[in-house]
Amino acid sequence: MTQFSKIELNYHDSKASVVPHGAHVLDYHPAGQPPVLWTSQLALFQDGKAIRGGVPVIWPWFGSHPTDAEKSSHGVARNMAWQVLGVTESAASFSLLPASENSHPLVDGRFECQLDVILDEALTVKLTTKNVGDSPFKMTAALHSYFHVGDATQIAIKGLDGRTYIDQLDSNQRKLQQGPIQIDQEVDRIYINSTDTVEIHDPVLGRVIEIQKEGSLSTVVWNPWIEKSKRMADFGEQEYLEMVCVETCNAADDQRTLVPAEQHSLLTRIFSRPND
Ligand code: BG6
Repeated sequence: MTQFSKIELNYHDSKASVVPHGAHVLDYHPAGQPPVLWTSQLALFQDGKAIRGGVPVIWPWFGSHPTDAEKSSHGVARNMAWQVLGVTESAASFSLLPASENSHPLVDGRFECQLDVILDEALTVKLTTKNVGDSPFKMTAALHSYFHVGDATQIAIKGLDGRTYIDQLDSNQRKLQQGPIQIDQEVDRIYINSTDTVEIHDPVLGRVIEIQKEGSLSTVVWNPWIEKSKRMADFGEQEYLEMVCVETCNAADDQRTLVPAEQHSLLTRIFSRPND
């Protein structure tokens, strides 16, 4: 098996697949539905690169590194080889590094990091970090889920009404969300103090994608829109219309500090149902 060999999970007629590279979930097809996750036609499947689509694991920093701008955006986990810990018919587990090492040259501290994927009536992705060093371990993270939608300009993202967000496109100003989120321009927001379940209402595909979470007080909503799409080599020019990211995060104010021996799990549970 290579880092890009697909591990197929099955639960009744639902299917999902995951590759060891990045412990990256690529597909989720609930029975009788179009794909729930989206992957770019131009996605790269190469060692050392992130895959554009599915559920990249962002760890142990979200966005720019907090103190070293030279380090790559969104951490190291999504670009790395993961070890397969176990696979069953409907679940798979991965470990970021061989347990004996517990360190990475770009990461401060010693850790164990595990990703579990479970397929049942929903798709659950759980990222667990344990501090196995002797000083505090600081981290931010995201399960950077790319969702497939019929037409991004027609969806309504519900569940964040009344929440404060950090507008990453407007000098990180803090703003108040009023009503559902509509996508009619580039959107790049970190919603804070939110444990809410978020729903993507999609009138074109006739369904609602429900995103539940645990261990998270922040949610990112991202669509690159037209100009940013053109700047990304692994993103097609029109593809912004087919996708939206709703990311279950520990980002911004939601940074976690794990004391020695402490562990933390960030979990997302993705479910899709016909439109109400
Ligand atoms: C989002 C960020 O999480 O990821 C955006 O909020 C960023 O700012 C996007 O553009 C994609 O990042 P990347 O590194 O995968 O191109």
